[in-house]
Amino acid sequence: MKENNAPKTIRLSEYRAPDYLIDETHLDVRIFSDYTDVTAQLHIRKNTQTAVATSLELVGADLELLEIKVNAEPVPESLYSIADETLTMNNVPGQFILTLVTRIDPKRNTSLEGLYVSKGMYCTQCEAEGFRKITYYLDRPDVMARFTTRIEADKSSYPVLLSNGNPVEKGDLDAGRHFVKWEDPFKKPCYLFALVAGDLSVVEDRFVTSSGREVSLQIFVEPQDLDKCDHAMDSLKRSMKWDENVYGREYDLDIYMIVAVSHFNMGAMENKGLNIFNTSCVLASAETTTDAGFQRVESVIAHEYFHNWSGNRVTCRDWFQLSLKEGFTVFRDQQFSADMGSETVNRIDDVNFLKTVQFAEDSGPMSHPIRPDSYIEINNFYTTTVYEKGAEVVRMIRRLVGVDGFRKGSDLYFERHDGQAVTCDDFVQAMEDANQIDLSQFRLWYSQSGTPCLQVSSEFSASSETFTLTFKQETPATPGQPEKKPLHIPVAIGLVDSTGNDLPLELEGGTRIDPDNPVLELKQPTETFVFRNIKEKPVASLLRGFSAPVRLQYPQSREALAFLMAHDRDGFNRWSASQQLVVSVLEDMIAGFQNNESVQPDSVLVDAFRTLLTDSSLDLAMVAKMLELPTEQFLAELLPKPTQVDAIHQSREALKQALASSLSTEMTSVLDRYPLHTEYHYRDQDVSERSLRNTCMYYLMSLEQDDVVERCLNQFKQACNMTDQLSAFKALVHSSRSEKSQVIEQFYQRWSNESLVVDQWFMVQASAPQADTLERVKELMNHTAFDMTSPNKIRALIGAFCNNNPVNFHNEDGSGYAFLADQIIALNKLNPQVASRMAVIMTRWANFDQARAGLIKQQLSRVQSEPLSPDVYEVVTKALK
Ligand code: PHE
Ligand code: ZN
Repeated sequence: MKENNAPKTIRLSEYRAPDYLIDETHLDVRIFSDYTDVTAQLHIRKNTQTAVATSLELVGADLELLEIKVNAEPVPESLYSIADETLTMNNVPGQFILTLVTRIDPKRNTSLEGLYVSKGMYCTQCEAEGFRKITYYLDRPDVMARFTTRIEADKSSYPVLLSNGNPVEKGDLDAGRHFVKWEDPFKKPCYLFALVAGDLSVVEDRFVTSSGREVSLQIFVEPQDLDKCDHAMDSLKRSMKWDENVYGREYDLDIYMIVAVSHFNMGAMENKGLNIFNTSCVLASAETTTDAGFQRVESVIAHEYFHNWSGNRVTCRDWFQLSLKEGFTVFRDQQFSADMGSETVNRIDDVNFLKTVQFAEDSGPMSHPIRPDSYIEINNFYTTTVYEKGAEVVRMIRRLVGVDGFRKGSDLYFERHDGQAVTCDDFVQAMEDANQIDLSQFRLWYSQSGTPCLQVSSEFSASSETFTLTFKQETPATPGQPEKKPLHIPVAIGLVDSTGNDLPLELEGGTRIDPDNPVLELKQPTETFVFRNIKEKPVASLLRGFSAPVRLQYPQSREALAFLMAHDRDGFNRWSASQQLVVSVLEDMIAGFQNNESVQPDSVLVDAFRTLLTDSSLDLAMVAKMLELPTEQFLAELLPKPTQVDAIHQSREALKQALASSLSTEMTSVLDRYPLHTEYHYRDQDVSERSLRNTCMYYLMSLEQDDVVERCLNQFKQACNMTDQLSAFKALVHSSRSEKSQVIEQFYQRWSNESLVVDQWFMVQASAPQADTLERVKELMNHTAFDMTSPNKIRALIGAFCNNNPVNFHNEDGSGYAFLADQIIALNKLNPQVASRMAVIMTRWANFDQARAGLIKQQLSRVQSEPLSPDVYEVVTKALK
């Protein structure tokens, strides 16, 4: 492990093109039980365009160098030196072959980057800088080489040997060993390299591309998971077809392989031709996977597949450009999911996530632009800002240039930069060039951090028949950026008349606004738009479809919100209105809680919810979404600071109960109308029915009455699928009913062999609001199923407690914080990336009251006094700055 108390800051402004390039990389990886030897033959040449140096510096970490040769001649020790993860060679020729033999220890590699072992299977993770743990290299994405990989291992333990590209040679060796040689015809940066060796089973299918090439599709899993690959395979084929239709992008190799591994830091990885997936993002079956899980598999499969163009064929010049591939690819997978299901529901889920997690990140000490300008550890920048806000920025470009213009721009981008490592600027440039527009102010979205706040006021004048909207934009200061400039913000709008129709939009001066894409483009700190020929006072529907990642502040009456909830043509804003209505009612209740008085929810909300539950003409999926109460985390992000942890929790519970008792008849009749499915299908209608039924069950269970508990227990026992079973399980475990201990035991007994279900079992228990939860979590850390080297298990137990259980985690006695700090300190040694993600939770101390903030900072200091990995060091230092 790298241990260093002042790791250095890397800056975008200091980017320099590489002095040396690598044209070919030939690897020979020999796996033995106690170690692995890697021979790398690198065809190196001076970069004549830029080179100034005469010495070559390669990076490597945790390597033992056994041999080093230049053009087959051993290099004397006087001609190279190794220090601080670099191998420096002086006076190398302009072009030569460097041969390195390094020895590594995958079995002891718990960081899960480089080559490591997951449940007996060897696999790699090289993004961002893991390749340096395999051999000394120019480990940077602008160095692209053609790779061949020969893998050698014991044949009976590791019958499957995989790498990028196509297999070109294989054979048996002495002592029960065998080898396979792979060749990848596309040059690539080393972060896209992958290798797998294991005893795996495979599911195969094929896809014929639009130009008629046949591609073999293979998903490799452990034998007991063979029955959980259908959904992933189907999603893959739909992704391939979709990318041809929507972006004109075809797959380019003869094989596409996916390998499922249980120990994985992230969701999945787009290695060329050989994706490596967290089991949680590839395996799915009715019995073991929820609807949300199916949705996740579909979108991650698509995401990794789409990277083949947005990331692999055109890659990033440096890691500051990460959003070039991630923001764009998230946008592409969001579009895909929207096309596969309900566009509105998908948009709601995406925005909800953005507003809960990304907005919080962007208002804290780790705030950074989607193209950061400095970092200590790049692993800390795989963030919701780079990914999700990055996707929002691409979405805004599409809104500004239109659907056809966007396709022209992406065609130009792929064509112009195929085979290159480029920048975010190149992407914007292609969009500008293809559409002859000027995005210079828009580019600020890439360099400016923080969430802009958009304050809107409106005025109707009956006498002049005008409606005036005034927008004021302001982005709060963020670390390193005290002054902010006005951004170019597209605001999609509608003015809704009393019958629910959109009024034609005509600005004073005569400009008509495109009725098919009604967007106001803001560029100034303050801007006013006067609409004319407005005869009655309309209700303004602003930021439709969440057309820009901003905090909208437009005070509207509860009646106006209820009206929009029922009538807005824009589905997203119908949902948004319902959320605003709920939040405004909750604000009253929270204020009441603070004065020790109980406030009943406004009847406007109760009536609006009653309509949702009874009007059979409404879209089921939307009804279910609108009935979902915002999470405590969402509320914490939105409401004024310091966060009233207990008031938020109690008020939300009180609202849930009040709604359940006022609407119990309507909710019970939903349970009757949509009885448990006896067969599982992952399709819209069924997903919506399950979602609505389980939402009603969740409300009713808050009353903890015998008849509902009985129903819930029955659902737990009879459910034919994990969605229904887990909903019932959660409702029971989060209640105070005595039945729950038995249910917890039964669920575990039933699913102890399904690791991903056991994750859910941990998660539900860790997020229980009861006061003894932390004790239970500590107990579960000693459970046989818990594994501190498994990121999935850590997220399921520790992560769920600290992220999804605000009342307990923020217990004012500080026990939650001390617990988290203990885990960070332990994980820092085992897996710095996961440790650092846990540490991020503590960076929000400034959002809490003085007592809590003090306790969090105390724990942060305790962590800081340890010898830290750069990952944790960066987060903790920034948090305490
Ligand atoms: N590039 C991967 C993705 O977004 C994420 C990832 C990053 C995976 C780093 C592993 C390590 O699809
Ligand atoms: Zn990605």
